[in-house]
Amino acid sequence: NKGKYKHYMQKEIHEQPESLTTTMRGKLLRGGSCKAKTVLLGGLKDHLKTIRRSRRIVFIGCGTSYNAALAARPILEELSGVPVTMEIASDLLDRQGPIYREDTAVFVSQSGETADTLLALGYTLENGALCVGITNTVGSVIARNTHCGVHINAGCEIGVASTKAYTSQIVVMAMLALAIGGDTISKQERREAIIDGLFDLPNKIREVLKLDQEMKDLAKLLIAEQSLLVFGRGYNYATALEGALKVKEVALMHSEGILAGEMKHGPLALVDENLPIVVIATRDACFSKQQSVIQQLRARKGHLIVMCAKGDAASVCPGGGCRVIEVPQVEDCLQPVVNIVPCQLLAYHLTVLRGYNVDQPRNLAKSMTTQ
Ligand code: M6R
Repeated sequence: NKGKYKHYMQKEIHEQPESLTTTMRGKLLRGGSCKAKTVLLGGLKDHLKTIRRSRRIVFIGCGTSYNAALAARPILEELSGVPVTMEIASDLLDRQGPIYREDTAVFVSQSGETADTLLALGYTLENGALCVGITNTVGSVIARNTHCGVHINAGCEIGVASTKAYTSQIVVMAMLALAIGGDTISKQERREAIIDGLFDLPNKIREVLKLDQEMKDLAKLLIAEQSLLVFGRGYNYATALEGALKVKEVALMHSEGILAGEMKHGPLALVDENLPIVVIATRDACFSKQQSVIQQLRARKGHLIVMCAKGDAASVCPGGGCRVIEVPQVEDCLQPVVNIVPCQLLAYHLTVLRGYNVDQPRNLAKSMTTQ
């Protein structure tokens, strides 16, 4: 039932304040003034020690689920101190990449039924690693065949384009980072700031959803473009990849997510006054580097759309001349959850305006159960 919405994708984008609340319910605890703020992941409690002692954590997934893991990777590395590597499931299988008994492999899948991820799980089990599942489907093959796991509880996702599952996956992996990170005093302040940030996230998503009309207006300007580049780095490299995936998947427009640090190693040659480029420049440790990327793109007359924190328009685009999308600022590691929302809205409106099927893009299925 789509209720007041025209499409499931639209409904699922707007549902995110509620889906995130459900994802965190019972897992995130904040007591009275002197009580600790903690994370409780019941499905993992008997395995946390093993995970903390592992030689590395390997994230394995496809598409949007891979991107969600990429968004969570920096905070997991920061809080756990364990090296985290990334594997696209099919690529791990193609290479028969090394997996060790001392590894923890985390399988991320909305459906829990994706063939590539499932085969990678079989391969990883054979190699003796501890396998953790992060899925949205209780009783799915991946949920059943992993040693332990967390259910993201985002509610049923019907649109082929994954939206609310992406934000819930990031939140669960941020909670995983808190749980694995333990309770070292040196990181206590950071941990508490993240927990407070998580509690407040549904409100921030409500706020960013107000950009709906602005994203529709932007979609009108971009409707006839051939291509859209999305530049991000750090926590928001994943936002660039995921934003571009949404645009190509549903709006059927070529789009590419680019690691801004790689700009001078090739992509800069594409820049001219015609090609539209979204640059994610919200506040984090990479902010000044993104400011300089923007300067260099402007020097080449780039057609820029800059996403920044509220009040930062003049700092990211001194003198004007870029289109600016201002989003609410949250704790840096949670910023990808906020930043993806305008990209989802843009992809949605572009699709409607271009006249394509929003919920069932051509050639794709919700769950890719064949290789
Ligand atoms: O169910 P899964 O999370 O395992 O699916 C993985 C991908 O097929 C999926 O995320 C796909 O990329 C989405 N349709 C993107 O919106």
